[in-house]
Amino acid sequence: MGEALVAGLIRSGHWKPSQITVCDVRPEQLAQLQLRYKIRASADNRWAVRDADIILLAVKPQHMKHVLGELGPIIRQKQLVLSIAAGIPTRLIKKFLAEDVPVVRIMPNTPALVGLGMAALSRGRSATSAHESLARSILETVGDVLTVTESQMDAVTAVSGSGPAYVFYVAQARTEAGAQLRLAAEVADQLVRQTIKGTGALLAQSHEEAETLRQKVTSPGGTTEAALKIMEKAKVRAIFLKALRSAANRSRELSQQPH
Ligand SMILES: NC(=O)c1ccc[n+]([C@@H]2O[C@H](COP(=O)([O-])OP(=O)(O)OC[C@H]3O[C@@H](n4cnc5c(N)ncnc54)[C@H](OP(=O)(O)O)[C@@H]3O)[C@@H](O)[C@H]2O)c1
Repeated sequence: MGEALVAGLIRSGHWKPSQITVCDVRPEQLAQLQLRYKIRASADNRWAVRDADIILLAVKPQHMKHVLGELGPIIRQKQLVLSIAAGIPTRLIKKFLAEDVPVVRIMPNTPALVGLGMAALSRGRSATSAHESLARSILETVGDVLTVTESQMDAVTAVSGSGPAYVFYVAQARTEAGAQLRLAAEVADQLVRQTIKGTGALLAQSHEEAETLRQKVTSPGGTTEAALKIMEKAKVRAIFLKALRSAANRSRELSQQPH
């Protein structure tokens, strides 16, 4: 996810590679990133943040405490801290930082890799609207951005953060069904990929609700209706609601854990 943001920043032309320093614990990963994006790279997190204006924390949630323990004492008030770690509240991040260091929490998603991400952000207590604008300008290089309250972050995680996984899950089921219906694997694969791409674009560009668009392709007594009847009978929609509630609950649980 960190790499997706670096790629977006450079692609946007608003940031020069020489303005970006990337850190990672794996030397081979660092070498690759340096080569690919011509950015600066360092295995020393402390060295890298010393002169940074913006510090983006993009490690797994379980590594955040370690990284914040290392960096917290040297981060200063004029620097901006951005975190994309799922389930880590700004109040927890601020515990490791000096008073008044601004923190913005972000929930991105992986379509950021192809410039079509959906990110939500919320400001911590010391962050101003100028800090929020700065965070936005970074995220807008890889997709759309919404501002939410931090209490909405668990729901955002369930809907858009984890969202791509649900689409991949449905894609997998459709590819399997194609094979059962005796389509060659590569044919089923292409049908599924392009249909998801096309339907996503149609939904994004339409002013109509998903439900209306679905009704338009569901003729009474037709093939689509036959499939949807089975899904409704099996309560697939209700299962989706239950599943997303579970994702949001898990995000809430993670944020309440002592990390
Ligand atoms: N992937 C998603 O869909 C998604 C969506 C929304 C938010 N996020 C959030 O984005 C964050 C990153 O997720 P990801 O999937 O991109 O994880 P990732 O692929 O594991 O990337 C994190 C990188 O940080 C490195 N790292 C670990 N400890 C470090 C340390 N002390 N100092 C410097 N670098 C260190 C990791 O190295 P090792 O691999 O050697 O540990 C890894 O290369 C997570 O907090 C996640 O919650 C991810």
